[in-house]
Amino acid sequence: MDLGLKGRRAIVTGGSKGIGFSIAEALLAEGAQVAICSRNGAEIEAAAERLRSGGGRVVAAVADVSNAAEVGRFVPEAAAELGGLDILVNNAGRAHPGTFATLKDQDFQEDLDVKLFSQIRCSRAALPHLKAAGGGAIININAIYGRQPDPNFFATTVDRAACLAFNKALAMELAPFGILVNSVNIGFVRTPQWTAIRQRRAPELTESAFFARTAEAEVPLGRFGEPEEVAGLVAFLAGSQASYITGASIDVAGGMGRYV
Ligand SMILES: NC(=O)c1ccc[n+]([C@@H]2O[C@H](COP(=O)([O-])OP(=O)(O)OC[C@H]3O[C@@H](n4cnc5c(N)ncnc54)[C@H](OP(=O)(O)O)[C@@H]3O)[C@@H](O)[C@H]2O)c1
Repeated sequence: MDLGLKGRRAIVTGGSKGIGFSIAEALLAEGAQVAICSRNGAEIEAAAERLRSGGGRVVAAVADVSNAAEVGRFVPEAAAELGGLDILVNNAGRAHPGTFATLKDQDFQEDLDVKLFSQIRCSRAALPHLKAAGGGAIININAIYGRQPDPNFFATTVDRAACLAFNKALAMELAPFGILVNSVNIGFVRTPQWTAIRQRRAPELTESAFFARTAEAEVPLGRFGEPEEVAGLVAFLAGSQASYITGASIDVAGGMGRYV
């Protein structure tokens, strides 16, 4: 199936590793050009080199998506380097476990900045370029905790619910411009952020033992997902085969998400 991504110009925030790297890889494989950002200069350059080795044009930049000024610089510069913009993937984010008892105001504020405000600011900065292109796609990477509250991920639960409301309202507002806005909600996907969670929660277990135990307890399919299993859906949503899908919220979570 041709996804209609040849020559399309995409920004993927948080593209140095994990899900964002795989999304960039999938878009490039379909013939798109991609700009990626993260906060670590050495890592984003190394990721860009790896991506370029598969062929295709990759622009890399250091930008913190929780910082309004850096977003305001990165998005227009990336669009200029790519010669325009058709696709924005708001992927950058972090895991920040904690209960209401343990999280401080500052934790909530920082989590809101990196999850919700990054989506708001990147989308706002991308909008003139998407409109100039005559339409496009915004894909927000969110979490099933936005719909299935988990007090152990309290800030994520609250912020991702706001992100889902943002996703739906933005889809409605941008539909007349031919800009499609969709959310992909992650359950447990094996990425570097889970390496950090294992080190905190169960340093005595090997990574595979920790993943197996966690998945057995919580994932109906009985395993963690792989980043590529998210990237395929994102590439589909970014392409012309998804032309009648907007405002959708799709779980990639191995059956997690106890709601209908
Ligand atoms: N993996 C899961 O099971 C899971 C579950 C639910 C939701 N998610 C969401 O999926 C998205 C990707 O997660 P992942 O698992 O791939 O995480 P990851 O492996 O930790 O990768 C996160 C990427 O985002 C970048 N990043 C983080 N904070 C940033 C910031 N403030 N500004 C710019 N870049 C930033 C990281 O680079 P730097 O740190 O160098 O900046 C990295 O490139 C996140 O939004 C995450 O919350 C993941």
